[in-house]
Amino acid sequence: MNELGLSIDLLEKELKSKLQKDRTFDSGRILGSMCTRPHSLASDIFTRYIEKNIGDPGLVESTGLLEHEVIKMLSSLLLLKNGAGYVVTGGTEANILAIWTARNRAKAKSGIKEVIVPESAHFSFDKAGDLMGLKIKKIRLTSSYQVDVEKVKKAITAKTIALVGVAGTTSLGVVDPVKELSDIAQEHNLYFHIDAAFGGYVLPFLKDLGLKAPQVNFNVKGICSMTIDPHKMGMSVIPAGCIIYRNRELADTVRLGVPYLSGGENAHATIVGTRSGASVLAVWSLLRHLGKSGYRTIIRRCMDVTLSLAESIKQMKDVEVVIDPVINVLGITSHRFPVSEIAKKLRKKDWAISLFPGHIRIVIMPHVYPEHIERFKDDLEKILDELREGK
Ligand SMILES: Cc1ncc(COP(=O)(O)O)c(C=O)c1O
Repeated sequence: MNELGLSIDLLEKELKSKLQKDRTFDSGRILGSMCTRPHSLASDIFTRYIEKNIGDPGLVESTGLLEHEVIKMLSSLLLLKNGAGYVVTGGTEANILAIWTARNRAKAKSGIKEVIVPESAHFSFDKAGDLMGLKIKKIRLTSSYQVDVEKVKKAITAKTIALVGVAGTTSLGVVDPVKELSDIAQEHNLYFHIDAAFGGYVLPFLKDLGLKAPQVNFNVKGICSMTIDPHKMGMSVIPAGCIIYRNRELADTVRLGVPYLSGGENAHATIVGTRSGASVLAVWSLLRHLGKSGYRTIIRRCMDVTLSLAESIKQMKDVEVVIDPVINVLGITSHRFPVSEIAKKLRKKDWAISLFPGHIRIVIMPHVYPEHIERFKDDLEKILDELREGK
């Protein structure tokens, strides 16, 4: 640190030049992220209320009430009446919280406890296992990329404490057979968590758009909690994830008293202490402003672009879609060329895409428009021509 500070003008110039390598969503070339440019209302509200710390709830009582309203609105989207929960830092924190809750609920069990997750589960469950000394048992998928229910049944032992299903997998947007998993969880008295970090804001709207969509909501009786992330398809600012518990009792399983807070003694049931009240207010404002119809319109556009890209890929030679997209996540593979080679060439052409074992993942977020996809398809065709010519 220098002795003397920089003027704001000089600082702005320096910062701009130092940020040159950062990609921005408005370039239209980020096709591999599950985040997007936040809605302008969310950014505006976030900056206006940036000082609020909801980790000291007594200081921001009104913001606390609006957090309850956020939980109520998202619970009702997931068909739950009296849900409890929190706006947290993201899907990772929400998933870790769910596993923490499951662990505490099963404290009486001795030995190393086990959590059963699909092979497709997000790596936040590995973090949870590592943090809490739990064994994360990964279950193979079927040919439709859903968790294999028969293998789940066989994996359950006396040490199993929780079962996880995914509604919108990170790699392909697939939805696990939630009802079957719920039945298994209930039969064995297991905590059942659904990771709908991405799919939670998409799946509830698909039926109204005339699309076939698995229904994943709290009407499925065995579900104890769900992750749903406003900073993904909710179009809010980072950080904003959400955990919804079926009831207050479950949410309170990890509650710890904090006596010294300046707003008065209180309790925390999240991993982080100081929490962004501005995030809560941004999420609340967007839910109120967009309503279901606003989100439906956004999702319709994302799905239209996704389905149209999937059709174009099917028409191209030497590339295929991994599965017909369920939500706005598309896997592209090739039987002729290594996908790692295609991905390398796409990145060289400045496309930000994700590479998974065996496929390239494209996520059609609200910042991706048809004209961006036209450019992407042109570049992909050129790359395939190069590969055919052995270049
Ligand atoms: C299904 C799923 N769950 C959880 C997460 C983790 O979310 P975050 O990066 O907000 O912690 C992701 C991230 O992509 C995800 O796809």
